Order: sequence, then structure tokens, then C-alpha cells
Amino acid sequence: MLVVTAQPSHKLRALKAGARDFISKPFEMPEVLARVRNMLEVRLLQKELLGQNDRLEQRVQERTAELREGYIETILTMTRAAEYKDEYTGSHVQRISFYSRDLACTLGMDKEFVDLIFIASPMHDIGKIGIPDHILLKSGGFTPDEWVIMKSHAEMGAKILGNSKSPYLKMGVEIALGHHER
Ligand SMILES: [Fe+2]
Repeated sequence: MLVVTAQPSHKLRALKAGARDFISKPFEMPEVLARVRNMLEVRLLQKELLGQNDRLEQRVQERTAELREGYIETILTMTRAAEYKDEYTGSHVQRISFYSRDLACTLGMDKEFVDLIFIASPMHDIGKIGIPDHILLKSGGFTPDEWVIMKSHAEMGAKILGNSKSPYLKMGVEIALGHHER
């Protein structure tokens, strides 16, 4: 902004208000042009820096999304491996995922929790991988001893998923441990 003023006090007021420079009269045109050029250079650099920050921020967001995708893919692969020999669980785990999300929403849990439970809940039976086939695949009822072994899949699942920094696996531990509580 260019103004014309003869008041010396205006100089300080203008600078305090955000003016970047001040030229007093009498001045020479080459000086004005040089100062304007300097101001423009600073402004252009400022804009470039802001643009770079935006690009960096976008890159971080992209990387975070990639990481999340990676987590989800690994969890789904792990879940598929666990249910490989126990066919009926196929769509059961997916239904659990959707039901858990709907219940969490209905209970008014926040978006982060809903997202976590949607991804973590399919791992609830992952401990079944440690149950011997002759018990896991047995048709008809279990003997009391077999029941004890069968029930241990909850704890085994928690052990398999334990000690991870991933928020999904952390919730997975809780779910694996507690999913037969009732
Ligand atoms: Fe289970």
C-alpha cells in the first residue's frame, strides 16, 4: 500500500501496523523501484514456502493413509489364515465387523473408536489357529476337557496379537480376550 503523508509519527504507526518498509521524501525513483523489488522477492519466497508446507502436509497425509491400508491388509491376511481350516467363519468374521461398527455407532462412540473396532473385530477368533484340528473341526458336542481347550482360543488370540504398537492390534487383544465373556 502506498500512502502520502508528511506526519513523522505516521511512519512508526504504519510499521507497527504491518507496513514492511517506509520511504521518506524526498526520494529517488531507482530507490523506490529497488525497495519494491525487494518486497516482491520476499513475498514470492514466502508464497513458495507456504506452497512447500502444503505439499509436505499432503505427503504426510498420503503416507498415513498408505500405512493404514497396510495395517488393514495385514490384519485381513492374518484373519484369513486363521479361518482357513474353519470354513464357517468366512462371512461370520465380516458380519462381526459390520455389527461391531453399527453397535459402536449406536452407542455414540467416536469416529476413531468406530474405525478401530471395524478393523480389529475380525481378529476375535484368531486364537483358533492354536486349537488342534480334531477338536476345532469336531462335529457334535465337546467333552469337558475339549471345552477347556476350545475356550483357550480367547487367551491364545490375545497372546498372538499382544505386544504391538498398532492401535488395531491393541484393540484386537482386548476383543480376543473378552469376546466370550458373556
Ligand atoms: Fe471365539
